[in-house]
Amino acid sequence: MLKIILGIILIIALVSAAGGIVHLRKVAARNQKEMAPYMGQNVPYSASLGKVLIIYYSKTGNTQEVARRIQHYTGGELYEIQTQKPFSKVPWFALLVKRQLAKGEYPSLQEPLPDVSAYDTVFVGSPVWWYTAATPVLAFLQRADFKGKPVAFFSTQGSNYGAFFKDVRSKAKNAQLLAGAAFNNLDASYNSAVDNKIVTWLNGLQASPEKEVLVGEQFH
Ligand SMILES: Cc1cc2nc3c(=O)[nH]c(=O)nc-3n(C[C@H](O)[C@H](O)[C@H](O)COP(=O)(O)O)c2cc1C
Repeated sequence: MLKIILGIILIIALVSAAGGIVHLRKVAARNQKEMAPYMGQNVPYSASLGKVLIIYYSKTGNTQEVARRIQHYTGGELYEIQTQKPFSKVPWFALLVKRQLAKGEYPSLQEPLPDVSAYDTVFVGSPVWWYTAATPVLAFLQRADFKGKPVAFFSTQGSNYGAFFKDVRSKAKNAQLLAGAAFNNLDASYNSAVDNKIVTWLNGLQASPEKEVLVGEQFH
């Protein structure tokens, strides 16, 4: 009996692993297709965004990396959203987040929060957590007033940003919404292509009540 149970568990594990590998290969192929137009060129930065503030949250560094690259081109200032208590490193962290999202109970943030008054363009970046924004960013949006400023959102994710842009745009109080950008996690061989994608986005930024995303594909 034990042998049969172990056999079933083994088969389930093998099928799941095979499914995971097929998914990763599909995502890699789609990333390659999406990034192809940005490869092998050097798109010059030509945007005039005035004084720029780049607000972001990042748990493992991907969103911070994109924020820093936006800063590099725009000469803007960075503001990192930080939680009062660091997120615990428990293996079931993803489930804790899921519960926060379901209950709408977001973490308390470190003060002071940024005042956007002195800026001409504001960027807000977040990892995608469960197809929406990270809970510290949702906590920030509950409190923020964008005072009529142009605001562009950007995300980083494995492959699927889900309802991220819809959600954050609907929660951005008094923002003049610009089209956002979605960045899938990519290896270092794509670094210059990602720079070109960022510059293409920045150069094309304009008020966009309709268009949620200017660059970045949605993969499922
Ligand atoms: C709790 C949790 C949920 C996530 N949900 C998604 C998701 O729905 N879609 C996706 O493509 N990636 C998802 N990811 C992957 C992250 O969005 C991705 O690794 C992101 O770049 C991390 O950003 P950071 O390094 O700035 O923290 C999730 C990661 C975590 C920790």
